[in-house]
Amino acid sequence: MFESLKPVGMDPILGLMAAFREDIRATKIDLGVGVYQDDRGRTPVMASVKEAEAQLMELETTKSYQGIAGDPEYNQRILQLLFGAGHSILDSGRIKTIQAPGGSGALRVGAEVIQRARPGAKLWVGVPTWPNHIPLLGGAGFEIVEYPYYNLNSHQIDTDAMMDALRQVPAGDMVLLHGCCHNPTGADLSNQQWDQIADLALERGFIPYIDTAYQGLGDGLDEDAYGVRMMADRLPELVIASSCSKNFGLYRERTGSITFITETPEQADIVAAQAMSVARQIYSMPPAHGALLVSLILGDKQLRANWEAELTEVRTRIQSMRSLLADNIQQNAAGIDFSHIKQQKGMFSFLGLNTAQLDQLRDEFGIYIVSSSRVNLAGINSSNIDYLSDSIISVLK
Ligand SMILES: Cc1ncc(COP(=O)(O)O)c(C=O)c1O
Repeated sequence: MFESLKPVGMDPILGLMAAFREDIRATKIDLGVGVYQDDRGRTPVMASVKEAEAQLMELETTKSYQGIAGDPEYNQRILQLLFGAGHSILDSGRIKTIQAPGGSGALRVGAEVIQRARPGAKLWVGVPTWPNHIPLLGGAGFEIVEYPYYNLNSHQIDTDAMMDALRQVPAGDMVLLHGCCHNPTGADLSNQQWDQIADLALERGFIPYIDTAYQGLGDGLDEDAYGVRMMADRLPELVIASSCSKNFGLYRERTGSITFITETPEQADIVAAQAMSVARQIYSMPPAHGALLVSLILGDKQLRANWEAELTEVRTRIQSMRSLLADNIQQNAAGIDFSHIKQQKGMFSFLGLNTAQLDQLRDEFGIYIVSSSRVNLAGINSSNIDYLSDSIISVLK
């Protein structure tokens, strides 16, 4: 049977990671892989997570199955994290969350539910977007339609082109938006742009599907949730996938959630039951460990304060690496302006280098960057920033 299968090409990032591992140069730098690294180049377990794990060792009395919707306390606390404790949507009865295996699992469950509600619905996706959005969401049956998002020359959101395209979206289609810390560009919607897209959604009747994978890594936990909270206030329907991979450093624990806002409480109950039926068909129940840790941290004053302090450290370290890199390479022979790196948010930005320059960085200097020139700013630290800056300036000569 398997003889009919064709080999599948390796994900370019995995290929880059493998080449990086084999590189024996001590000065090598990996700016490709999308995980946070501290100033010593490690991706550590957060201290607040370690403390919650110690508590969980004592508290946990069973490894029996949990419900298909996951841990109810986790779901409640994630809602409060997303919307803020006092948001009116939380008491409306029009909102339901179920735990999902990471942001990826959440995105897929959401997509499957939408396909059940409206088979063949179209999903409008900004260009560029996180490459995995396409197979993850398209694989559930969405027909993908692209809208312009980022201008590679100006390093800004292409506002006019984006709004023109969104004005064409028919009623009932879905529009994918990044909640914050846009991957791969780092160019986030301003509050005003969020408001304008909400106006259009109301006018046209399209429904935003918001992917929030980096809450707290941009400007702060509340600031990064502006779009989600405002749209929940104003729109009758909304779907939100969220992830605890980055802001809790729980990548491998697969901790996420999918949230549906519906027109009526009756619809919310039906949608939640449909989401559980989707989950049952794919994986039955989400993994428990990460969600129990998140629930413990968010439910305990001291643990939460410690976690927020650690998250602030993550955010400010990334911001300071952005500023240092942009300032260091601003004076270059090619006259390229890198100030966008300073202004953008989260872990990623495009450097804007061409293939020959990226190849030279890899071959001559051991600096690994994906072909789109997206860099993970969290791969920069006080030990490698000067070497990195000098190498970039060299390839721009
Ligand atoms: C934009 C975006 N959405 C979703 C995810 C999925 O995260 P998770 O690891 O929780 O599945 C990522 C991970 O890189 C991402 O960048």
